[in-house]
Amino acid sequence: MKKLDQLYEGKAKKVFATDHQDLLIVDYKDDATAFNGEKKGTILGKGVINNRMSNMLMQLLEKQGIPTHYVEELSERETVVKKVAIVPLEVIIRNIAAGSFSKRFGVQEGTKLKQPSLEYSYKNDDLGDPLINDHHILALGLATKEELDTIAGYAFRINEILKAYFLKLDIELVDFKLEFGKTSDGTIVLADEISPDTCRFWDVHTHEKLDKDRFRRNMGGEEEAYKEVMRRLLGE
Ligand code: TMP
Repeated sequence: MKKLDQLYEGKAKKVFATDHQDLLIVDYKDDATAFNGEKKGTILGKGVINNRMSNMLMQLLEKQGIPTHYVEELSERETVVKKVAIVPLEVIIRNIAAGSFSKRFGVQEGTKLKQPSLEYSYKNDDLGDPLINDHHILALGLATKEELDTIAGYAFRINEILKAYFLKLDIELVDFKLEFGKTSDGTIVLADEISPDTCRFWDVHTHEKLDKDRFRRNMGGEEEAYKEVMRRLLGE
């Protein structure tokens, strides 16, 4: 696999073309941003952890019948993925109230929800990723009804799989954000990453935050938190 030109640089990853037209290479950075890029920083070693963790979790999900973009881990920071057209939605699943959900609805952080919730944001940095509903998505043509049903179905199944998996590691999966893409033949697959950048992880016993909220909220200890989740995933 030959790494060719850089196609795109995002906030946390770079994307490169390859000599195979249906494959890309993603390269994970240590850069961290929050609040639509307003807050910038570095979490040392994050790229290595997120690359490895995301690949482990995508392989776990594949085994459970969820199609993903994962193809092959190339190095500490680089992974071959299927080329997809990203559906411009952030798909957020929540098990426990936190973050913007707590703020919007006036629910104390840590309140267990009666059932998992799903919401979409329109992936558009200029607009600040606004909340969007199914009707808006169909009206704007961002996805079809069938695609949206597939995405929501996968998102809830992924939640059940990951919630159970992390609970065995004494980690509560509070909420997380997914992105989906369409391959050249129109198949919807899970894309982007699953990592402490995109999930809220709380220790079951101490409720200590083991995710990017430590950076977003200037708590410190983010490097240790990312390492701790990885350590538990590796069974160390
Ligand atoms: P929120 O409570 O700020 O809406 O975040 C919900 C989940 O989505 C949380 O696990 C963090 C994740 N997330 C991202 O992955 N990217 C983002 O840009 C935002 C705002 C949240």
